[in-house]
Amino acid sequence: MTLRLFKPLACLALLAALAAGPSAPVTAGDGLSKHVTRRMALMTSQKAAMDVLTAMMAGRSMFDKDRARSARRQLIKSTSSIRKHFRKHRMDPRSNARPQIWNAWDDFKARADTAETAARNLNTRSLPALRRTLPGLMQSCLSCHDTYRSTPNSFTTH
Ligand code: HEC
Repeated sequence: MTLRLFKPLACLALLAALAAGPSAPVTAGDGLSKHVTRRMALMTSQKAAMDVLTAMMAGRSMFDKDRARSARRQLIKSTSSIRKHFRKHRMDPRSNARPQIWNAWDDFKARADTAETAARNLNTRSLPALRRTLPGLMQSCLSCHDTYRSTPNSFTTH
């Protein structure tokens, strides 16, 4: 609401809504959760970093040590924040997260840790080293999705 629209009547209505107590809706009426938006954005950025590396691995792009190293750094950072992004049980209609994440939180956390370890273990010094170490990370993405994400799993959509 802009200040221009913030007329006395609107003001009263707002006060009345607030007085209705904590059950009054405090989020936007579209039913979308900013937590879900953030965790989806985190996952999408991980996919972008993975795409850089898988293209090099498959020979679709030239191996570039600096780009590979920066993708590795990005992946360490993002995998290490998976837990934080999923800690609270939030859902909205866009989400493909399975609710058992929050019933099996220790296992979910362990899988996030496994992904972080695999990201740290990426070796970007040479193409053969990348080829050797990337499948471990890919596997950790896919195995968590298998259990906790309700869309068909594939190498093209993960
Ligand atoms: C610990 C579990 C876990 C790990 C590890 C994990 N993901 Fe996810 N990922 C999820 C969950 C859960 C969702 C569904 C989130 C939602 O829809 O609310 C998801 C969703 C996604 C999406 C879809 C986002 C969207 O907009 O719908 C992509 C892309 C993705 N992950 C990529 C990756 C990549 C790449 C990796 C590995 C580097 C990875 N994920 C590792 C749990 C994980």
